[in-house]
Amino acid sequence: MKYIPEPFKIKMVEPIRITTEQERREKIAAAHYNGFSLRAEDVYIDMQTDSGTGAMSDSQWAAMLRGDESYSGGRSYYELLETAQEIFGYEWIQPVHQGRAAEKVLFPVMIEKPGQYVIANTFFDTTRAHVTLAGGHPIDCVCPEGLDSEHEAPFKGNMDLPSLERVIAEKGVENVAGIVMTITNNSVGGQPVSMENMAATSAIAARHKIPLVIDAARFAENAFFIKEREAGYADKSTQEITHEFFGYADIFTMSAKKDAITNMGGLLGVREEGEHVPDVKSLVIAGEGYVTYGGLAGRDLAALAVGLREGLNEDYLRYRVGQARYLGERLDEYGIPYQKPAGGHAVFVDAGRMLPHIPWYQYPGHALSVELYIEAGVRSCDIGSYLMDRDPETGKQQQAPLEFTRLAIPRRVYTQAHLDVIAEALGEIKQRADQVKGYEITWEPKVLRHFTSKLRPAELRPVD
Ligand code: F0G
Repeated sequence: MKYIPEPFKIKMVEPIRITTEQERREKIAAAHYNGFSLRAEDVYIDMQTDSGTGAMSDSQWAAMLRGDESYSGGRSYYELLETAQEIFGYEWIQPVHQGRAAEKVLFPVMIEKPGQYVIANTFFDTTRAHVTLAGGHPIDCVCPEGLDSEHEAPFKGNMDLPSLERVIAEKGVENVAGIVMTITNNSVGGQPVSMENMAATSAIAARHKIPLVIDAARFAENAFFIKEREAGYADKSTQEITHEFFGYADIFTMSAKKDAITNMGGLLGVREEGEHVPDVKSLVIAGEGYVTYGGLAGRDLAALAVGLREGLNEDYLRYRVGQARYLGERLDEYGIPYQKPAGGHAVFVDAGRMLPHIPWYQYPGHALSVELYIEAGVRSCDIGSYLMDRDPETGKQQQAPLEFTRLAIPRRVYTQAHLDVIAEALGEIKQRADQVKGYEITWEPKVLRHFTSKLRPAELRPVD
């Protein structure tokens, strides 16, 4: 059977405005060619992120009505606690308002001495920022195939084990505060990590007594890829796979805005309550709120408890990763290059290959993103050199290993027909690819520049 069954029907619709190309040209110019500065109502299909943009189910909405808003010890907290303990097998589960809040309370406690290193398969931007803010140095060690968009491999998100061992030896075990495994590996294209790679990373961490943390935003999509692609897992449930995977780590941080299909929320989990937990709890109370609500309303906790289970449902996950795969297959028809195979939550178009005449410092990934908005009102984002901040010491621009335009797919929101529009629009752009211009920044902040920078179309010139 080639078609992918969509395991839901639509009960409520939200109208979206159809704009003209002329309108879109004006809107993006007025937004200084930065998609974050557009009003969402001027966007037709919003592929900017899959974070907090999913459609909740009728069960989640029903659970929200039953949310217990007690300040401490609420029923919704205990329902979430029991659900998460069962799914992940961890003793202590702390709700927080979103993923970066978990990172913010964990890394200052984990990094005991300034200058310590934290090593990841690849850090997400906020995780990298919180390691740095806590005085640590983040280092990425992704496997080489993760950086070759044409090379098809089942687990391109894996940790590169020889590099991990080398970095630990070079820096000295006492200078490594932790290891982070991001599942799926967002920055290299939503690519999964295998159970085998997780087990091997865990063995290295255990041998050196270094804590192993899972950045678990897309844990369910990762489990489904293991079921589909790794020998010995076809007959295991995504729940069993998740339990086994989390058993290899000590701690997890999670943005619940992705696989737990809530609009807001996050979790921090600790497998065995140890010496550091009281310090983390103090930071939670100071920054997020009392430990049984963690910056969320009782109704958010209730929706999250239901969403964790729905996110692991295998009919849903087959449809979910099937959508990204379908979009990838449509792009193949038009000869559009992308990180292959398609990821779990997104398709990362290889703008560096599609627009080879635009140098990295005029941001091919961003240029394609602007062009796609003008062509069809589709919002996407750059995951390339525009996303990278300048080197804090030299002030020079930094080149990303790949220039991607990310098409992130919100959960249960868009239909196959919407995906067809995106593929056709990219096909049109390909016809006139050599006329697409690069961009230059006219104003930028010191950090996290891609959110607020102002840009304009650029003539070819050397890098600054
Ligand atoms: N970790 C990963 C792997 C993420 O992708 C994100 C967010 C976070 C942590 C932070 O979680 O947003 O709840 O604070 N990723 C979004 C994205 C924003 O568009 O990829 P948060």
